[in-house]
Amino acid sequence: MCGIAGYIGKQQAAPIILDGLSRLEYRGYDSAGVAVYDGERIHMEKAQGRLRVLEELTQHGATMPGFCGIGHTRWATHGSPSDTNAHPHMNESNSIAVVHNGIIENYAQLKQRLLNKGYHFASETDTEVLVHMLTEYYNGDPVEAIEKVMHRVEGSYALGIMFLDHPHHIYAARKDSPLIVGESSDGKFIASDVPAILQYTRTVYYMENEEIACLSTEHTRFFNVDGEPIQKTPVTIDWDIHAAEKGGFEHFMLKEIHEQPKAIKDTISPRIKDGDIDLSEIGMSDEELLSFHKITIVACGSAYHSGVTGRYVLEDLARIPTEADLASEFRYRNPIYDAGTLVIVVSQSGETADSLAALRDAKAHGCKVLAIVNVVGSSIAREADAVLYTWAGPEIAVATTKAYSCQIAAFYLLALKFARLRSTITPERFQTLLDALSCLPGQVESLLAQKEKIQFFANHYLATEHIFFIGRGIDYALCLEASLKLKEISYIHSEAYAAGELKHGTISLMENGTLVIAVATQDALYPKTVSNIVEVKTRGAFVMAVTTLQHPEMEKCADYVLYVPKTAAPFMDSLAIVPLQLFAYYVSLGRGLDVDKPRNLAKSVTVE
Ligand code: AGP
Repeated sequence: MCGIAGYIGKQQAAPIILDGLSRLEYRGYDSAGVAVYDGERIHMEKAQGRLRVLEELTQHGATMPGFCGIGHTRWATHGSPSDTNAHPHMNESNSIAVVHNGIIENYAQLKQRLLNKGYHFASETDTEVLVHMLTEYYNGDPVEAIEKVMHRVEGSYALGIMFLDHPHHIYAARKDSPLIVGESSDGKFIASDVPAILQYTRTVYYMENEEIACLSTEHTRFFNVDGEPIQKTPVTIDWDIHAAEKGGFEHFMLKEIHEQPKAIKDTISPRIKDGDIDLSEIGMSDEELLSFHKITIVACGSAYHSGVTGRYVLEDLARIPTEADLASEFRYRNPIYDAGTLVIVVSQSGETADSLAALRDAKAHGCKVLAIVNVVGSSIAREADAVLYTWAGPEIAVATTKAYSCQIAAFYLLALKFARLRSTITPERFQTLLDALSCLPGQVESLLAQKEKIQFFANHYLATEHIFFIGRGIDYALCLEASLKLKEISYIHSEAYAAGELKHGTISLMENGTLVIAVATQDALYPKTVSNIVEVKTRGAFVMAVTTLQHPEMEKCADYVLYVPKTAAPFMDSLAIVPLQLFAYYVSLGRGLDVDKPRNLAKSVTVE
């Protein structure tokens, strides 16, 4: 989604803003722009395409003098990607400039009213209504004008605003789209996310919904939506700056795949204490956890896939009825809530609009919400009743790898906790599973050594058009994720099927040479999946199987086999996903695609 960066201080603003925007590139965008007060006017430059086009146009900001400015990377919603639709947007007198992340839902009515009043629209964006409304309401007091606009617009927004009348100030406002304010001895910043300002400051204010900020070199002031001053406390970000850099890897995705052993360890280890699972930090007591008789997991994309794995593992180990649903479906299907249901919202970013809306709906119906979230201080983390953080660290590649792995690890912790509380497994099995959990990081590490073998195989499938992933049980949950990983970064059409479902229709697509990736890590289901492999091979498919080292006989059945070490059956997804992440990576690399920033995608989906 769109990225916002702004700066006011002692340094030249444009290079700092461009640098900030470059660190938000992972969010996904199709055009970029910057506006800077140059001592006389608000000087604006915008360009469709990658940020480097704007960087070349402005000589990395050098051609834009001035100490106060705002910038934006746009992910098109209303109006196609173009120079004109790129942000910032300015009013006709060039005295107000606005950058916006989010969607103004009632923009059509607002636009008609403004057109009737004689305002002219230069772009096709929803954002432009904000510019004209600010112009209409501005009477010398920027905060008052912003307030009035906020009372009239519906939808979501993070805004950076400049007024020519107040050239040494940046104004910001937020509702349902992330925005932070940073402070250093050198200046003040606004940004959509921490990496944009991490090299300048670690002192950050998280803006809450319906708050306004006013930044000058001297002050950082905050107001509520009625214009009343409010006090906010900054937090100190303790991320390692190198965590948001490539560290010698060709891509963030490859780096993040390699960071999985550490990320899983950081997520699991602090929660295993004295032979037990200790979740006392999450903000829900054992009594409360025990009071739930049902779990509903809600999330989007890969986070949803982690929830599908979570459903299998929770039901298997803790015998608690669990459902997993896509947040975009859940929120509109009039779900049945009751007080005994625990709603678990899973999100890497903690800002996904549909997941956040589902969380709010569940809370409004009196349900307790537990969030499994990676970004500390994000909206979902702040609004949930309890939070189980995944300690994956900053994830930059659009295609998630380490955050997904930590999400499924978080579900293992929860499943074991519930199983212990509900006495659904014996103490001996609990201990065996705990030991297996502790061994996962080392086993993931060992899998990374298979890289070359996977790259070799991937290179043979660069031109393929369709790939099918099949598996049963948690292997099927894993197939959903492996298939998404492949299609999002390689643009190859792929589908994930429960292996037993193929013969109900999809098998008609099998023909000579069709690539099927079959996952068979569950001993209890192994013979069934082998039968499904035979079925597709009979129809001409080429099968690559992923199975455990205990099943060398798979080579008689599949054409190519990738082996993974064995762990306890419910935890196999943590191991089997690694070669399939690497497969997707190497296919994308081999096809010469932008691995970290695939087309049309955004890391943080803050609009519906
Ligand atoms: C994963 O590779 C995706 N890019 C995407 O499906 C993602 O998992 C989804 O948008 C949810 O994001 P969240 O975890 O930040 O809520």
